[in-house]
Amino acid sequence: MRAVVLVGGFGTRLRPLTLSAPKQMLPVNGITMLERVITNLARGGVTEAVLALGYLPEVFQENFPSGEIAGVKMHYAVEPEPLDTGGAIGFAARFAGFTDDTFIALNGDVINDLDIAALVEQHRAFGGEGTIHLTPVEDPSRFGVVPIDDRGRVEAFIEKPPAGEAPSNWINAGTYVLEPSVLDRMPEGEKVSIERAVFPDMVADGKLFAVQADGYWVDAGTPESYMKVALDLVNGTRSSEPAVAADATIEDGATVENSIVGSGAVIEAGASVIGSMIQRGARVGAGAKIVDSIVGPNALIGPAAELSELTVVGDSVVVEASSSHSGAKLPDVPKE
Ligand code: GTP
Repeated sequence: MRAVVLVGGFGTRLRPLTLSAPKQMLPVNGITMLERVITNLARGGVTEAVLALGYLPEVFQENFPSGEIAGVKMHYAVEPEPLDTGGAIGFAARFAGFTDDTFIALNGDVINDLDIAALVEQHRAFGGEGTIHLTPVEDPSRFGVVPIDDRGRVEAFIEKPPAGEAPSNWINAGTYVLEPSVLDRMPEGEKVSIERAVFPDMVADGKLFAVQADGYWVDAGTPESYMKVALDLVNGTRSSEPAVAADATIEDGATVENSIVGSGAVIEAGASVIGSMIQRGARVGAGAKIVDSIVGPNALIGPAAELSELTVVGDSVVVEASSSHSGAKLPDVPKE
């Protein structure tokens, strides 16, 4: 099975971390989001994949020069301009020659345990042009809501319904099985959204199906969800990976609780790190207090500084000693 992985977005919600690295190259407890996604694809029988690249494409190529991730053969398709999700899938599938057989397409920032092989099997049983994985959420108003009939056929595709008005809480979870004929709905070089244009057209033709599967699923696109996906791996919610890299240093008298400390990072004496992510090479100065916050790679947190409420510190940023930041982005970044 072959897959198109969408990794070309700007990742604006995760700035400033995504000013220096694309979202899918950010670490989730020491392993990039992309490697975690490809590993799950490999488990489901994917042997070849193409990355639909746009923003900072060279970072992917430099980090995976062998052209292989988790045993999956990789292709790199760089868009000449952002083509939106549907245009990007079409461009990358044509680039890699995935035009003659069923393929998977997915958002590269969704972490899940979905059984891809089972989804493909269900797609074949439906006999449609496409099958979408659906996941349940408490508040569907930020997502694409997808009601289905009792045979799995999609009845509508409702992008971001007003709060309280969604017909169901099952949303588009970002993994699709597609027939190559779907490429005809993504004309070459045209900007088109799969969620807002291609899927609604397929619904109108009665050719789109969906499968409800409620296993582990997180869209890691916001600081909150990115942090959750990482901490879930170390605090036992999903697994119990080691939370502190073997070559990190926790000095005597420092406290580290429900947090991740990356490779080469240093937590100095008397500092406390609670519910937070300290990325590789960062240093937390003596007596500093980091609560529910993300410290980017090689950042320096001055002694006695305090970070709280999802403060996000970018790559190599220096935070002044004894300064205090709550819900901040350092450096501050424009919203869009
Ligand atoms: P924000 O800027 O924070 O909204 O994130 P995003 O646009 O990077 O990601 P979003 O969650 O909106 O998009 C879903 C997936 O599609 C992500 O994996 C993105 O990397 C990817 N994506 C979005 N737009 C494009 C595009 O124009 N080209 C390509 N190749 N990928 C895209």
